[in-house]
Amino acid sequence: MSLKISIIYGSTRDGRLGIRFAKYLQNEFSHRNIEAVLIDPLDMNINTLTKRYSDYEDGNAPAELERVHKELNSSDAFVIVSAEYNHFMPPALVNLLNHFYIEYQRKPSAVATYSVSPFGGVRVSSPLRSFLAQLGMPPISSMIHAPFINKNFNDNGERISSDREERHKEFVKFSEEIEWYANALKSARDK
Ligand SMILES: Cc1cc2nc3c(=O)[nH]c(=O)nc-3n(C[C@H](O)[C@H](O)[C@H](O)COP(=O)(O)O)c2cc1C
Repeated sequence: MSLKISIIYGSTRDGRLGIRFAKYLQNEFSHRNIEAVLIDPLDMNINTLTKRYSDYEDGNAPAELERVHKELNSSDAFVIVSAEYNHFMPPALVNLLNHFYIEYQRKPSAVATYSVSPFGGVRVSSPLRSFLAQLGMPPISSMIHAPFINKNFNDNGERISSDREERHKEFVKFSEEIEWYANALKSARDK
């Protein structure tokens, strides 16, 4: 079954680094013949929430919200790429995710965190997983964490660390799990 995954990245910070990890994940999924779309709040020029997508009359939502609605609606799973800002999610990520709801229902999500520290953003996982469950996209058990994002990835999203082969195997396990749930829930939704 062909799958589509939205990779949702949530930093609008000047000089942001997590875009490297988001591109890495997009490339890795593409190599597995998965359609991987990057959802980036900077591309959307999104405001702090005044209306959710569903609050607009049909056809009246801003073009960028409409575009992202269509991408999310046609996705089978979501990979959330999050930094930890004081052990919590970046505000741009929370804001982006809160603009939508129906689009996520009965589809799995997976958490991918990063940081410039040795911890790889792991501490944001708990609040993020609760949030994703409430949004209607239950998180899978596997997660992926990327420490030292500033050193281990380049601007093209290539992993340049010496352990890249090992980390690639870790990605494959992570991907296999989200693919399993995405396929299973897709079949269930189709029925
Ligand atoms: C407001 C803020 C809070 C941060 N808090 C943490 C933190 O709790 N733990 C950590 O490892 N790094 C923290 N950092 C450093 C981030 O890991 C680093 O800036 C990272 O590049 C942020 O992601 P971004 O570049 O995609 O915005 C923080 C950075 C900012 C700007």
